[in-house]
Amino acid sequence: MPAIEIKKGVYWVGIVDWNLHDFHGYSQAAQGTTYNAYLVIDDKITLFDSAPAKYQMDLYHQIRSIIPLEKIDYIVCNHIEPDHSGAMPFLMDKIRPEKVFCSKMGHRMLLDHFHQPDWPYHPVQTGDSISLGQRTVQFIETRMLHWPDSMFSYIPEDKLLISNDGFGQNIASSERFDDEVDLGMLMAATSHYYHNIILPYSARVLAVLDQVAQLGLDIDMIAPDHGIIWRKHVQLILDTYREYALQKPHKKAVIAYDTMWHSTEKMAKAIAEGLMEEGVSVKLMHLKQYHHSDVMAELADATGIICGSPTHNNGILPLMADFLTYMKGLRPEGRIGAAFGSYGWSGECVNILSDWLKTAKVEVIEPGIKAKNVPDHAKLAECKELGRQVGKAIVAKVDAGA
Ligand code: FEO
Repeated sequence: MPAIEIKKGVYWVGIVDWNLHDFHGYSQAAQGTTYNAYLVIDDKITLFDSAPAKYQMDLYHQIRSIIPLEKIDYIVCNHIEPDHSGAMPFLMDKIRPEKVFCSKMGHRMLLDHFHQPDWPYHPVQTGDSISLGQRTVQFIETRMLHWPDSMFSYIPEDKLLISNDGFGQNIASSERFDDEVDLGMLMAATSHYYHNIILPYSARVLAVLDQVAQLGLDIDMIAPDHGIIWRKHVQLILDTYREYALQKPHKKAVIAYDTMWHSTEKMAKAIAEGLMEEGVSVKLMHLKQYHHSDVMAELADATGIICGSPTHNNGILPLMADFLTYMKGLRPEGRIGAAFGSYGWSGECVNILSDWLKTAKVEVIEPGIKAKNVPDHAKLAECKELGRQVGKAIVAKVDAGA
């Protein structure tokens, strides 16, 4: 994918990782991803962000297609996670820049990652700006979006916000801009990314969006470090991030379950019928068929999270433990849940699932339902009634607007 000029004198020099599916070891990236780096040609030639170490030569060729690397004066590291800084040792050796700009936390992170105290660090904070000649760069710290070191770089002369992980998506494509791809696909990928990476820091998202508004930044392009660049739908992505962060209730529920001999699955389907009878949209997700990050993506606009597992060795099945651990870490707010599962003799599953959901701050409708071995018609009717109960609670929450 050749480097392209995204604004006069501003080049995308990123890498398209076409075949990546395991993003950072925890999230699916079904469409691959990109590592976007940006090169600004000005009196002080500046590189914003880089790429994983294994792509350092690809980055070299991208930059080299515009200028020799040694002409770069400044490097800005908006974020130190290795997908954006892994090539730094290579780049530092090739470029020998006059200055490396990063947040104060970024300074510490660069030291922790690369153990190079002699690099020419220039830590910055919100409100600081530098001149590149014709342009200025204003820095905005975005702590915990999604690491402590994260920051945005804003170039007012270009109305360009380089937003690092913020507003990004995992999409590998030959297109670079939001008006060149299907908007539905783009928004789905944006949501998947947010709800697997940014979600725990939703309060910070709201604060940053407020700060961007208060600073009166005039933005006509948002250039994230993953995926597609926003130029047509800038206001849409800003508004959508606010919507994500607010986590308003919706009449939708996810039933996540694992099953051994399909008894728990039968229960899941009966619960789904009860939810549907209350006018709640339902998604059933067998955890052997869906990655935990895809379940979180469905939970994005679902207020209900109902979990089922049979009892296995006095516990629950491993994929359900995996999902519950993952979901708890992402800290979704305002969810309503319930627990169910089949059992052969000891039957701990429902209590274990309920306790897990409570530790994830889910409001649990109790009692959950256990079915011994295979659920009969009466037991399935109980499941359906549990679905109705959860459905009523979801509808009431939505109608109350809280
Ligand atoms: Fe894309 Fe947090 O790195």
